[in-house]
Amino acid sequence: MSFLNFKIKLKKKRISSYVKSELLSEDSPFIITEAYKSMRTNLMFMLSENKKVVAFTSAMANEGKTTTCLNMGIAFAQTGNKTLIIDMDMRKPRVHRYFEIPSSPGLSDRLGNFTKELPISKTEYDNLYVLPVGTIPPSPPELLMSSALDGILEKLKDEYDYIFIDTPPIHVVTDLAIIASKLDGIVFIVRENETLIEVVKQSIENLERVSAKVLGFIVNDSVGDSLFSQYRYRRKYKARYGYTYGYSLPSKE
Ligand SMILES: Nc1ncnc2c1ncn2[C@@H]1O[C@H](COP(=O)(O)OP(=O)(O)O)[C@@H](O)[C@H]1O
Ligand SMILES: [Mg+2]
Repeated sequence: MSFLNFKIKLKKKRISSYVKSELLSEDSPFIITEAYKSMRTNLMFMLSENKKVVAFTSAMANEGKTTTCLNMGIAFAQTGNKTLIIDMDMRKPRVHRYFEIPSSPGLSDRLGNFTKELPISKTEYDNLYVLPVGTIPPSPPELLMSSALDGILEKLKDEYDYIFIDTPPIHVVTDLAIIASKLDGIVFIVRENETLIEVVKQSIENLERVSAKVLGFIVNDSVGDSLFSQYRYRRKYKARYGYTYGYSLPSKE
C-alpha cells in the first residue's frame, strides 16, 4: 500500500514538472520569450479601447490552444497588467495542472450555482490569476448558454486588465460559438504541418456565422525559415519550440 502511494506521488510530481516546463520562465530560450513579446505587442494593440476578453481556440485538439493561452497570460502579466486565465475547456481541461491546483471548484460550479464565490487562485506569477474549469457538466453548451456567464464576465472585467479564455476545438464542439458574443476577440491557433486548411476555413465560417471577432492567427510549432534562420539556435530549438508570431486578419474569401 505504501509503495503504491509512493508511486502515485512520484507520478504526479513528474507530470507537474513536465507541464511546467512548457510555461514561460526566466530559463526559456530567448527566441521563445521574444516571440511571445512580439505576439503580446500585436495583441495589446488590437485590444485597445477597453477590449479585454479574449478566447484562444483552434480547429482541432492538440494544436497549442492551452500552451499559447497560458504563455500569453504570463507575457501580459509580466507587463504589470492584472491578468486572469479562465479554463472554459469543459472537454479536456488542462489549465489547473500547470498551476498545481484542483480543477474544481471552478467556473462550472459557479455557473451551476453550486458555489457563491468565484474560486479564483493567485498563481506564482505576479499579476496572474486563474479560474479553473470546475466540475465537468454533462452538457457544457447548456451551462455556457446561461446568462450567469454574462454577469460573471462583466464583474471580472472591472477587476482585471485582461481575461484570457482557454477553449475546446471549434471544429469539434460548439462551445466557443455559444460564448462568442461575450468576447472581445478570438485568437485562432494553427499548428504547422498538422492543421488542415479546409478545417480552418470551415471553422472560420462557423465563427463568422455567429459574428465572432477573429483577431488573428498564431502559427504554432513552426519550422518555417522566415523566423528561425535568423537565429543561431535554430537547430537546437526548432523542433520543440517553433512559435512564430505572425498575426494576420482572416481572409473574407
Ligand atoms: N510549439 C510547440 N512545440 C512543442 N510542443 C508543443 C508546442 N505547442 C504545443 N505543444 C505540445 O502539444 C501538446 C498539445 O498542446 P496544447 O496546448 O495542450 O493543445 P490544445 O490545447 O490545442 O489541445 C502539449 O503536450 C504541448 O506541450
Ligand atoms: Mg487545451
